[in-house]
Amino acid sequence: MSRTKNLLNPLNVGPLTLANRVLMAPMTRSRSAQPGDVPTALNAQYYGQRASAGLLISEGMPISPGAKGYAYTPGIYTEAQQLGWKKVVDEVHDNGGLIAAQLWHVGRISHHSVLPQGQLPLAPSAIRAKAKTFAFDLQGSPAMVDCDTPLALSDDGIAAVVQEFVQAALWAREAGFDLVELQGANGFLLEQFLSVTTNQRTDRYGGSLENRARFVLEVVDAVAAAVGAERVGIRLSPWCPPSVNDMDFSIEAQEITLYLAEALSARGIAYLHLSEWPGVQYPSGFRAQLRELFNGAIFVCGGYQQTSAQDILVQGLADAVAFGKPFIANPDLPQRFVCNAELAQPDGNTFYGGDARGYTDYPALASLS
Ligand SMILES: Cc1cc2nc3c(=O)[nH]c(=O)nc-3n(C[C@H](O)[C@H](O)[C@H](O)COP(=O)(O)O)c2cc1C
Repeated sequence: MSRTKNLLNPLNVGPLTLANRVLMAPMTRSRSAQPGDVPTALNAQYYGQRASAGLLISEGMPISPGAKGYAYTPGIYTEAQQLGWKKVVDEVHDNGGLIAAQLWHVGRISHHSVLPQGQLPLAPSAIRAKAKTFAFDLQGSPAMVDCDTPLALSDDGIAAVVQEFVQAALWAREAGFDLVELQGANGFLLEQFLSVTTNQRTDRYGGSLENRARFVLEVVDAVAAAVGAERVGIRLSPWCPPSVNDMDFSIEAQEITLYLAEALSARGIAYLHLSEWPGVQYPSGFRAQLRELFNGAIFVCGGYQQTSAQDILVQGLADAVAFGKPFIANPDLPQRFVCNAELAQPDGNTFYGGDARGYTDYPALASLS
């Protein structure tokens, strides 16, 4: 693998060659067409505008109706959704870009108002997240509401979720996505299995570190068997703090992440993507150990700027850096790095939901000059 240490140099990831190492982070923008949570022409325009990223990672896509936790998030489990995503992917490819599909099961971060009639959220254990999600209130209006207490997944339930990941990965590849990224970060289902605070199972999916990692590896194995390990990446967020979806992933975070890194490396997946949170300092030596154990590409994300991103590449501790908020307001972010241009600031009020405002109306540099 090429380890040339410049943000603007190409990088090989799985079977792909990314034009640069400035990636767009996965970002939920909650602008799908209703009913049906279907990606739209506006969504295609938004991703197409950002196609100069080395790789775009899509917003989280619920893999089934029961995997959903937020209103208006575009799924990847109906034909209409797949067709919508195909238009998004085509727009990105027509503009010279590459795009990964982030496959998402929210687990316990959900509310019955966004789930099929009569269904409750599913999780490793029936422990309610002391967190809110964007769903519907008793009047049926969109609102931040308390997450429901989830049901603990049965053995059959676990096998069914693994199959949902496989089906979603196949549909994503059929729609043209270049890679799939498993959402294993930020307090959602996969991470709920990893952390002892959310996984109190006494079967082969709970208890020891190996048991808690089992579900993640089963999903990876099944998805890799379906689409090829070289097309699979995973996002992890060791030390994810309780402020993020009530996920306290600190106990054995280092041990289980390194265990996974070695197991994922043996499977030959394309990349490992670290979602870092403000105020979380990794223990010294952790990044170097991760590099040592994992042979694929390492992406990092969370609060990076051009200089800090460049620095971590030079240190050899990451191969590419994903940018979230900077990409919202700067659709041509790599070009801005080339010219050392000042960055526009995004408007937090338009992050989730709404129309073209705060979505596709941030201009590119060329149209500013
Ligand atoms: C509006 C918004 C939506 C997000 N949605 C997702 C998501 O769907 N999946 C995910 O893994 N992370 C999501 N994140 C987290 C980002 O991928 C990223 O980790 C975070 O913004 C920190 O990077 P930054 O400092 O460059 O913005 C979201 C962040 C924002 C701001």
